[in-house]
Amino acid sequence: MMQADYEQKIKELEKTNRILQKKLERSESLRVSLEETNEKKEALFLKVIHELRESQKILEDQSRDLEQTLKKLQAMQSKLVESEKMSALGILVAGIAHEINNPVNFIYGNITYAAQYARDILALLDCYQNVYPNPPLSLTKKLNSIDVEFIKKDFIELLNSMSNGAERISDIVLSLRTFSRLDEAAVKKVDIHQGIDSTLMILKNRLKSQINLSEIKVIKEYGNIPLVECYAGKLNQVLMNIISNGIDALEQKIDIISLESSLTAASFIPTIKISTDLIDNWVIIRISDNGTGIEKEVTQQIFNPFFTTKPVGKGTGLGLSISYQIIVENHKGQLKCNSIPGVGTEFVIMIPKQRN
Ligand SMILES: Nc1ncnc2c1ncn2[C@@H]1O[C@H](COP(=O)(O)OP(=O)(O)OP(=O)(O)O)[C@@H](O)[C@H]1O
Ligand SMILES: [Mg+2]
Repeated sequence: MMQADYEQKIKELEKTNRILQKKLERSESLRVSLEETNEKKEALFLKVIHELRESQKILEDQSRDLEQTLKKLQAMQSKLVESEKMSALGILVAGIAHEINNPVNFIYGNITYAAQYARDILALLDCYQNVYPNPPLSLTKKLNSIDVEFIKKDFIELLNSMSNGAERISDIVLSLRTFSRLDEAAVKKVDIHQGIDSTLMILKNRLKSQINLSEIKVIKEYGNIPLVECYAGKLNQVLMNIISNGIDALEQKIDIISLESSLTAASFIPTIKISTDLIDNWVIIRISDNGTGIEKEVTQQIFNPFFTTKPVGKGTGLGLSISYQIIVENHKGQLKCNSIPGVGTEFVIMIPKQRN
């Protein structure tokens, strides 16, 4: 080959080399830019994932908050329903008690005079009979037709039983007033035994024997407790809820055992026991029944608003949740439940003797 040809070849090779070099440079820069884009994309991707995680956390927090708000709302709703129910009931009860109070007092107050007058008139009659042992025929006929001797005996007895009846109405009216205690929204020193008695008086109808249900025996073991500073009306509401639940459990138990054997049913004595005690600085009220008892899984739920095992229309499931609020929140006390399924249930109310 000629020298010129060599040079020509070298030049061509150099040119190709330059072209390749350029291509290399270009693809290098392309690679760099691709890498950069990739990095950017990856960073963006990571950012998106991070943001997604964050928003998922926020959503979880929000749904937890919502759940809590819902629970609070439910509690609030139950509180409102119950307090509305109670205040309406309280107003009604207090109104009726007030209306009955006056006429009953007329009867009760006048019976003593009526009895006195009757005794006077009967004494006068005796006097007449002594002075005129042999009255004219027309009088004798009248005396025989109305059986004066019987009237003399029965009249006083009749007035006595009217007086007893009026006295009982007065007691009921007093219990209704004690129970509603509308006038006492504030904390006041109260006699808890009086509250229990008035609640029992109001529930008397449910304690009495009814068809299929023998009379519920009430055992009271009142200890030596001081007057307690509390919201009297609210405390009565708690007593009412717990004792009514006890009665429900007894009725249910009687239904169950009657199905099993009428003999066991006949020997069963439905009983509610209420005892009070002072231990350290706590006034303790125990209310127990020998009813159905509560299964363990159920016990954990009984204080929840709207929890009920009773048929629709019978229970709203509010009694115990309201009672819990009243004892724990309003009175800074404690409310506990001990139960053995099939044997019975005990509720323990603990209230501090003195409010701080
Ligand atoms: N003494 C008890 N014996 C057996 N179960 C009871 C007793 N007290 C409460 N319970 C159970 O606890 C549940 C909740 O009671 P709670 O008083 O709150 O509601 P309820 O009685 O069902 O309805 P409400 O009182 O609102 O009419 C009852 O449905 C019942 O299952
Ligand atoms: Mg109840």
